Amino acid sequence: MTDAERLALAVAIAREAGEMIRKAREQQTFGHRYKQGQELVTDVDVAVDTHISARLEASFPGEARLSEELSPERGVVSDDAPLWVVDPIDGTVNFAHGLHHVAVSIAWAVAGRVRVGVVHAPFLGETFTALAGKGAQCNEQPIQASRIGNLEHCLVGTGFPYRRDSRPPLMRRLMAVLQHCQDVRRNGSAALDLCDVACGRLDAYYESVSPWDFAAGWLIAREAGARTGHLYPCPAGFPEDLYGENLLVTSPGIHRELGELLRRADAGEVVQC
Ligand code: IPD
Ligand code: CA
Ligand code: CA
Repeated sequence: MTDAERLALAVAIAREAGEMIRKAREQQTFGHRYKQGQELVTDVDVAVDTHISARLEASFPGEARLSEELSPERGVVSDDAPLWVVDPIDGTVNFAHGLHHVAVSIAWAVAGRVRVGVVHAPFLGETFTALAGKGAQCNEQPIQASRIGNLEHCLVGTGFPYRRDSRPPLMRRLMAVLQHCQDVRRNGSAALDLCDVACGRLDAYYESVSPWDFAAGWLIAREAGARTGHLYPCPAGFPEDLYGENLLVTSPGIHRELGELLRRADAGEVVQC
């Protein structure tokens, strides 16, 4: 099967998942609990993951899957075999609160390189797709990252971990960005933040997340002309496309400058305007 055929199937599965999410919101009957005390998960996250998993198994029998609710512990290091990377609902807190930034994210990687990505946003009516080397699209129209050349006017997306004790160190980054850039957005879906960079609505995005949060959006952003990278080197042997710590994805002209700003903030340097 070609990568384009895989993408077409992944899009069909993501749309089915999106329909489940839309119906669940209409009916409002789902339960919820907290993983490790702070991370919200609803019955819908699990039901959608189960559906996607069954559909992928039927279409691609035996191919490995890393998915947030069913197989989050699956390793990605030195795995040369094909791997599906699935977030059934990215933006669970938004979903539970009736907000619209909610997405299904499905990526397919081979030897640690993401080759196929789809991010489908059922409440926004947007489906973002990319094939490695073939560009990125939103609702089948080509998309392009912004071409901004300075930090001063750039709009930056980010997010914060569920664990509250991991948040304070990130305040230094936030302060630096608020002082040097146009403003910050926290939309609650890493996958959609990356797609917003891909279509030039955001100029940059930085965060530390899990592989399922970013694998598809990362390919979409890169294929749309954004520069994808990490603030610090990835550990040896870890595939960059699946390593979620300290991501930095930007319009190409500001990558170096924003990276320096964030690293200086981490180092505790007072970053003056
Ligand atoms: C979360 C979202 C959010 C990001 C969190 C993720 P979830 O995913 O992507 O934007 O800031 O780090 O965990 O829990 O809604 O699938
Ligand atoms: Ca997620
Ligand atoms: Ca999720």
